[in-house]
Amino acid sequence: MHKEIMLPSKRNNVFRIVEDEGTHILKKFENRENYIKEKEVLGVLKKAGVNVPSIIKAEDDHLYLEDLGEVTFLDWYEEEEKNNSLDLSMVYRLCAWLKDFYSAVFDFYKKQFILYDVNFKNFIIHDNKIYGIDFEQVKPGHIYEDAGKLSAFGLTYDPPMTGWKNNFRNIFIEILAEKLNVEKERIIEEELKELKAMEKRRSYIYKGGE
Ligand SMILES: Nc1ncnc2c1ncn2[C@@H]1O[C@H](COP(=O)(O)OP(=O)(O)O)[C@@H](O)[C@H]1O
Ligand SMILES: [Mg+2]
Repeated sequence: MHKEIMLPSKRNNVFRIVEDEGTHILKKFENRENYIKEKEVLGVLKKAGVNVPSIIKAEDDHLYLEDLGEVTFLDWYEEEEKNNSLDLSMVYRLCAWLKDFYSAVFDFYKKQFILYDVNFKNFIIHDNKIYGIDFEQVKPGHIYEDAGKLSAFGLTYDPPMTGWKNNFRNIFIEILAEKLNVEKERIIEEELKELKAMEKRRSYIYKGGE
């Protein structure tokens, strides 16, 4: 058997390859620099013991990755809202992953690097543990920028700004501030910036721009 299932990707071509021996992910990069960046960061994180998919093979701007399954942090988030519950241990696990990520990239680049692309689909829950994927946009920055974006993303997933999401956001910011050792005010400033940027992107789409 050999099946290629296309996975949602805005920037690249990503497939789940199913074979008799098992499955893996094939990520075909549109851009060579992004391929090199993602391969490097995956290597740095793996070496530091941070949960990321193993690279099975890397060649010609293609990464063959360990398949971590289909449950993303967004799936968990939507399920929690549907059940009107909130298992904080998952939030703590996400923050622990982030903390490990920031410390591993700081040690390697001798400078603070951030994820930059922190949408909830870039975290996969595998064996009940959080794994990070998608590192092509990793770059120098401040941790509160990622934290503010995370919080803004959380608020605006469909349906946006519900009571449950607002409550989650308040708790999330508290935990992010404490665990990542950043000021709450900074996170809230960045959150507002991101919400405004989203608003702009959206009005652009309404006008038929995208
Ligand atoms: N190692 C992996 N295991 C399971 N699913 C993956 C893996 N890598 C990518 N995916 C799936 O493919 C999608 C796109 O991959 P991603 O690396 O996020 O690329 P993009 O830069 O296009 O967002 C992810 O949202 C996820 O659903
Ligand atoms: Mg992605």
